[in-house]
Amino acid sequence: MKIAAQLQQGVTIQRIMDNVRDTISSGITREHLRETNIVVIMAEEFLRDHPRLRSFVLSDVQLTGTELGSGAYGKVEEIVVPLCAAAKTIHPFLQEAKASTEFVRECQLMSSLSHPNIVKFLGVAFFPGSRLPALVMERLLTSLHDLLDPDPDPSPLSNPTPVSMALKCSILHNVACGLAYLHGRLPPIIHRDLSARNVLLDFDMVGKITDLGVARTVPRLMVAATMTKGPGASVYMPPEASAPAASNTQMSKYDASIDVFSFGVVTIFTIGEKFPCDPLPHTYADEKTGLLQARTELQRRSNYMRYVNNQLRAFHQLYAKHPLILLIQQCLQNFPSKRPDIREVLCLLEQARGCFNQEECERNKLEVLQSIQSQPRDQNLACVLQDLKTVNADLQAYVQAKERELAQAHQQLILKEERLQISERERQDMDRELADVNHKLTQKVCIELVFGSFSAIGGCKCRRKN
Ligand SMILES: Nc1ncnc2c1ncn2[C@@H]1O[C@H](COP(=O)(O)OP(=O)(O)OP(=O)(O)O)[C@@H](O)[C@H]1O
Ligand SMILES: [Mg+2]
Repeated sequence: MKIAAQLQQGVTIQRIMDNVRDTISSGITREHLRETNIVVIMAEEFLRDHPRLRSFVLSDVQLTGTELGSGAYGKVEEIVVPLCAAAKTIHPFLQEAKASTEFVRECQLMSSLSHPNIVKFLGVAFFPGSRLPALVMERLLTSLHDLLDPDPDPSPLSNPTPVSMALKCSILHNVACGLAYLHGRLPPIIHRDLSARNVLLDFDMVGKITDLGVARTVPRLMVAATMTKGPGASVYMPPEASAPAASNTQMSKYDASIDVFSFGVVTIFTIGEKFPCDPLPHTYADEKTGLLQARTELQRRSNYMRYVNNQLRAFHQLYAKHPLILLIQQCLQNFPSKRPDIREVLCLLEQARGCFNQEECERNKLEVLQSIQSQPRDQNLACVLQDLKTVNADLQAYVQAKERELAQAHQQLILKEERLQISERERQDMDRELADVNHKLTQKVCIELVFGSFSAIGGCKCRRKN
């Protein structure tokens, strides 16, 4: 049994160590043993301080050795539990002491969430080298960011299939549904780190929000200094997030409109396919007066709005202002109170969806999936896709077999019906014959009766004559 499972069941450290010692004879390496001891001790220490986490500990967890990616907060590795899943370990340098209490609180919160557009939280697992346990979640295909703006390193997708406006709009709708679910909770749950990197896509191109809880466990100001990738994370942030008052301790002063702002930036990137990594500065010098003028958040990203306008040009004639342009303009308002709430955003997305062909969306989904499948970035992804293909093939074979069975049963039914019709005709013929015989018999009896009466009358008459 795995150590995590033993801990979960309350087996003492001493007992586990005895078991580990016993396994030495079965060929376990000294290095592995040392690592195991450390993990056991760290896990036990952690669970002693946070007993509420015990119920989330997953047993039988194995790392496959494939790193799925790495971000500002931590790295994500593929694991099997025994289903294929993903485990995110927060970078050791971000694991400050008070983060663990937050971490446990967030695990409890995440385990209470269930929505098709929120990445499913499966539990936690202890791995060597990390004081905080890893967050285990469902394994998805790719991120929205990687789909639209693939990283040139290590292996970019060559000639990826273009993602249609219909599919983009459907993914944005998925994300807005996920946000509406979070904001609709009591009290509302604010993500605080919504970005195209934190929108993952499943094997049916459905968008799901991830990293909920990670941004809430580790204060962003700590992260800003240690950012390993995507310095653009600040691009998604509204002005109130960079205001001097927004220190670690005041993170909770944000309301849900912070996520609405980020959603607007996600929309600019999704439609325009250009990551707005260099927004214009907050101020500029007026040409005539030389005085400093302020730019709004929307003006700061105006360079990227032309890509959005280009993509939507074909649909412009339908609207005075395309609902997606309206959506971006409203979400990027500088003042939080002027931004729409996520339900209003959803209404605009519904309107936008109306002008894209849904059949084309489904077709494009398949093409995009095929283009990702034909260029697997790693062997494990290829394995997952292969598994899916096998399951699909098995399903198709099952459906075909059932269809064959159904066709045979149908054929037999037709034969039975024919036989029934034949016997019905035979019965009707027999009935007719019987009726005929009856009729003839009745006639005969009548004739005999008439004859009988005549002869009787004749006899009487003769007698009278005599
Ligand atoms: N559940 C998952 N299934 C499959 N791949 C995943 C999963 N979670 C993350 N990834 C991959 O790992 C990469 C890194 O994720 P991670 O959340 O650590 O960083 P990030 O999202 O790029 O940045 P940030 O730290 O700001 O969230 C993602 O871009 C994605 O490609
Ligand atoms: Mg992330």
